[in-house]
Amino acid sequence: MLHVENITKHFGGVVAVSGCSFHVKPGSVTALVGPNGAGKTTVLDMVSGLLPVDSGQVLLGERNLTNKQPYVIANAGLSRTFQQVRLFRNLTILDHLMMAKDNDDTRLLFNIWKRKKVEQDFFAAHLGRFKVTKPLSTVVADLSYGQRKLLQLAMATLKPHHLLLLDEPVAGVTALVQEEIETLLLEMRGKPTPGADAEETMLIVEHDMGFVRRLADQVMVMDAGRVLVSGTPEVVLSDPRVLEAYLGV
Ligand SMILES: Nc1ncnc2c1ncn2[C@@H]1O[C@H](COP(=O)(O)OP(=O)(O)OP(=O)(O)O)[C@@H](O)[C@H]1O
Ligand SMILES: [Mg+2]
Repeated sequence: MLHVENITKHFGGVVAVSGCSFHVKPGSVTALVGPNGAGKTTVLDMVSGLLPVDSGQVLLGERNLTNKQPYVIANAGLSRTFQQVRLFRNLTILDHLMMAKDNDDTRLLFNIWKRKKVEQDFFAAHLGRFKVTKPLSTVVADLSYGQRKLLQLAMATLKPHHLLLLDEPVAGVTALVQEEIETLLLEMRGKPTPGADAEETMLIVEHDMGFVRRLADQVMVMDAGRVLVSGTPEVVLSDPRVLEAYLGV
């Protein structure tokens, strides 16, 4: 599914990612874990085209997506959420869902106006599933942090996709929202994605190890810009090298 080969990224003198390689198997839930500053978000940004790689390759299935524009990568079947929630404060929930649904028409505002009339029932049902409890007309500025995280997830899952990248989906939310997100992801695991004929494949960056153990079938540990070890959660999370990288023991 996703093949990341030897990617590297420098920010001036800082080596954020260095010779990082890994594979994500179709239908798997793969967790990418590691200490702060290990390079996890930078990897997701390179995979989704927000940052160019300095060297190395990113392949989704057979397609070489290295340094393609983010919209090209999104249309190739990659969907994602962000560690720092990225939404428009003054736009409504409905506006966000319509933007998320498809990005192949550049006449965005005209489309928003046109489609507003026909898709509200569908969006309302989708939002209900994702526990966004406010009306579609609510502006993002009036949503709690937890509701914004849930809206991000609802947006990422709306569009047909092959691979879902989630950067710290449960960080900073209440225990209740954390449980809701975990339940949603568990429900999605192993099921076909809307509009695509394959099981949901997820790559999730997360620090909460309980969450990782319950959800992931593969875990990869990054430290200092590269993947140090990977395997099943049971094996990886008790590996002495991982304990050292994470806990300094
Ligand atoms: N835009 C940037 N400019 C300069 N340095 C950056 C930039 N983005 C990331 N870095 C640096 O690159 C390294 C990796 O950062 P990254 O955000 O990928 O880590 P992370 O594993 O996601 O950490 P966290 O768990 O805290 O989110 C860090 O040293 C960080 O300070
Ligand atoms: Mg990060």
